[in-house]
Amino acid sequence: MCGIVGYIGGQNAVPILIEGLKRLEYRGYDSAGIAFFQGGKINVRRSVGKLRNLEAAISGQRLESNLGIGHTRWATHGRPSEENAHPHRAGKIVVVHNGIIENYIALKEMLIGKGHEFKSETDTEVIAHLIEEYTKKGDDTEKATRKALKELRGAYAIGVVNEDEPDRMIAARAGGPLVIGLGSQEYFIASDLPAILQYTKDAIYLDDHEMAVITTEGVRVTDMKGLPVQKDVTKVLWNPVMAEKGGYKHFMLKEIYEQPRAITDTFRGRISEETGSVFLEEMGITDAALKKIKKVVLVACGTSWHACLIGKFMLEEMARTPSEVDIASEFRYRNPIIDKHTLLVAVTQSGETADTLAAMREAKMLGAKTVAICNVVGSTAARDADGVVYTHAGPEIGVASTKAFTAQLTALYLFALHMAQVRGTLDQKQVRGCITELIKIPVKTEKLLLDVEEGIERVAKTFSKCSDFLYLGRGYNYPVALEGALKLKEISYIHAEGYPAGEMKHGPIALIDENMPVVFLLPTDSVYDKTASNLEEVRSRGGKVIAFVTEGDDKLDRKADHVFHVPATTAPLSPILMAVPLQLLAYHIAVLRGSDVDQPRNLAKSVTVE
Ligand code: AGP
Repeated sequence: MCGIVGYIGGQNAVPILIEGLKRLEYRGYDSAGIAFFQGGKINVRRSVGKLRNLEAAISGQRLESNLGIGHTRWATHGRPSEENAHPHRAGKIVVVHNGIIENYIALKEMLIGKGHEFKSETDTEVIAHLIEEYTKKGDDTEKATRKALKELRGAYAIGVVNEDEPDRMIAARAGGPLVIGLGSQEYFIASDLPAILQYTKDAIYLDDHEMAVITTEGVRVTDMKGLPVQKDVTKVLWNPVMAEKGGYKHFMLKEIYEQPRAITDTFRGRISEETGSVFLEEMGITDAALKKIKKVVLVACGTSWHACLIGKFMLEEMARTPSEVDIASEFRYRNPIIDKHTLLVAVTQSGETADTLAAMREAKMLGAKTVAICNVVGSTAARDADGVVYTHAGPEIGVASTKAFTAQLTALYLFALHMAQVRGTLDQKQVRGCITELIKIPVKTEKLLLDVEEGIERVAKTFSKCSDFLYLGRGYNYPVALEGALKLKEISYIHAEGYPAGEMKHGPIALIDENMPVVFLLPTDSVYDKTASNLEEVRSRGGKVIAFVTEGDDKLDRKADHVFHVPATTAPLSPILMAVPLQLLAYHIAVLRGSDVDQPRNLAKSVTVE
């Protein structure tokens, strides 16, 4: 995610901005910039790549300022480049922004119609021009910003300065984090605490739809009507390292809890429940071309491959499109049957996995169109593909993929819905129903996390010393069984296997004994009874059963050793919810076994070599 910093006070703002951005580097970024008052003007310096490039751009210059804002950009709209880096300027208005503006295209067109000239591809630049438009009508920065923000749809945390008002900076948020640090006649704004902790432990947290006007005299917080809002001052007890993890013990746990946000940000701006439609224009493949597709081939590695297996089910059930799934390292060497009527969908969090990139190139060479479902803007996969559907999970620091996986499932669901509406296999009412259920998933995920974590920790204590686990599921949840096993394997180093529950009698049942915990994914769906009988078979052989069932189903409460209830949803969306407790189970077992959860042995976050 992007990082925002700002400073106003008696110290030199420039080093404080740079140091603050450094403290936000862990959030992941691809460009950076600062804007600071000096000589009665706002000076902007921006650079692509790491902060050291920005430092090089300003080194040797006497930069003295008492007010400035800075930004590290994690690209969502527009590739990583200097012109897309923040801060963005429109006349005397300069803005830094973290979030996604859904209606920026319409606003940009309106502003261009009023004579505004844009220099970047970003959604953020629209905010600067919109505020400028209102200042041109006589509003001060506070009023102009408030009016501009009311026109935005989406998520934002912003910092704003106006060359004509060198005594203040403005901060506001709706759906993006923003904290205000309180010093002695000096104040700080930041996306996250690490940027300000070395200066102050006194903080004000803005809430959604609040705005702060900050001068050296103090901080005035209002709502979006301009009415004053009383804010408590929090004494921050975290050290900077704890703060980077948001108070969580590991990045992986933080990212597990970020999933409601990652899912929301991935569908934000791409659906209309009102009209029952999905918009994936950014994919860059016309509806006419999609109609001609005879087969979709999904390729990936690891967790992303599990997402592809679920994507196949979605595409075949919702879009009635024949779909195949291949592990990328297999696909690239098996002389696959691919032609111009094939659409290759590569799913890759990093966008840099060597085997997946090679599979994309192979498919392209054979005449297929390619789409990347990717989490990193401007990555190799994103650049090589004919079209991209970005997941907006933000940077995933933990090597074990969690929020990227559920964001991939969200993107695949949108893609399947888009294919269904283009190919006419679902009517508008059906698409609307699918969208309505999707919109509920983030809240259901949030509730699930709060409901199950304590119980999962207890179960982790019971089984953390086991040497083998078996994960079983059917249909949409067979790949979730694979994913649950992979999560456990890669961070706790326990041998674990995922299997289709129906396959148990064809081998794995020989493994069952009282030392073998068996995890059952048992949502109330069309194959529930069959899977429930597999559970009985495991129990009758002394296996220990951990079952994940749909809320309201109490039929297994006395048959499984441990039962967890997962909110009800439709079959295509059930993997998102079922994956979450399995991530927590793997996490807590790994913690109990003392593994390096965020950096497990032998693993890399992105396997960029074969
Ligand atoms: C997932 O927890 C693993 N870290 C790994 O399997 C990963 O999913 C795989 O390497 C693919 O990475 P990608 O999504 O960046 O291509």
